[in-house]
Amino acid sequence: MSFIVGIDGPAGSGKGTVTKKISNVLGLINIDTGSTYRCVALEVLNQGVEIIDKEKIIEIAKNIKIDIEHNQEGDRVFLNGIDVSKEIRSKEVTQIVSPISSIKEVRIAMVELQRKLADGKDIIMEGRDICTYVFPNADVKIYLDASLEERATRRFKECQEKGIPMTYDEIIENIAKRDENDKHKEIGSLMVAEDSIVVDTTNLSIDEVVNKIIEIIKEKK
Ligand code: DC
Repeated sequence: MSFIVGIDGPAGSGKGTVTKKISNVLGLINIDTGSTYRCVALEVLNQGVEIIDKEKIIEIAKNIKIDIEHNQEGDRVFLNGIDVSKEIRSKEVTQIVSPISSIKEVRIAMVELQRKLADGKDIIMEGRDICTYVFPNADVKIYLDASLEERATRRFKECQEKGIPMTYDEIIENIAKRDENDKHKEIGSLMVAEDSIVVDTTNLSIDEVVNKIIEIIKEKK
């Protein structure tokens, strides 16, 4: 039987960094569900499909092949066999991913894929709707949060480190827009599951958050 840790939270709440660290410490397979929506967005750009062409976007989501390879140097994301780990973090993808992830049929296709990626494994899965929709019976449910300004500051630093040319103002505007969009989806909206433990990371270091969540997981295991 598999063991499932679900980590939900808005953009910049620290989910990605914290989940990676916990997966290394506890030997859980890390599945970043945002990367699946990002792959659909990248393919939409690659095929030159208009963002308003819902039918074509749904077709892309239904036929796309996404694999996540787990190794010591970090996880790699493959879209139709090509390593797109870097491209899916680009400004262009980030700008269109939220509306794409709001399309009901895209979500249904991605959730099916996410459940398959997790099948039979001990995993830690991060996203927006893991504890409410993808795995409502997850063994451990966490909701990470932080103030909008703190989240924008974190993303700005991350972009600078990765050489992604986005200003602080662009980032805060993008995050605020995504928050709004993520909270009002037809299915799989960003919300706190009734039985999730909320961890506010605004004034905590990464290691403090990691240790806190590891304690919670160990109690449940
Ligand atoms: O976590 P991220 O920024 O890589 O996510 C990219 C987009 O995908 C984000 O705008 C919200 C969406 N998303 C979602 O709707 N549901 C998830 N489980 C994960 C991400």
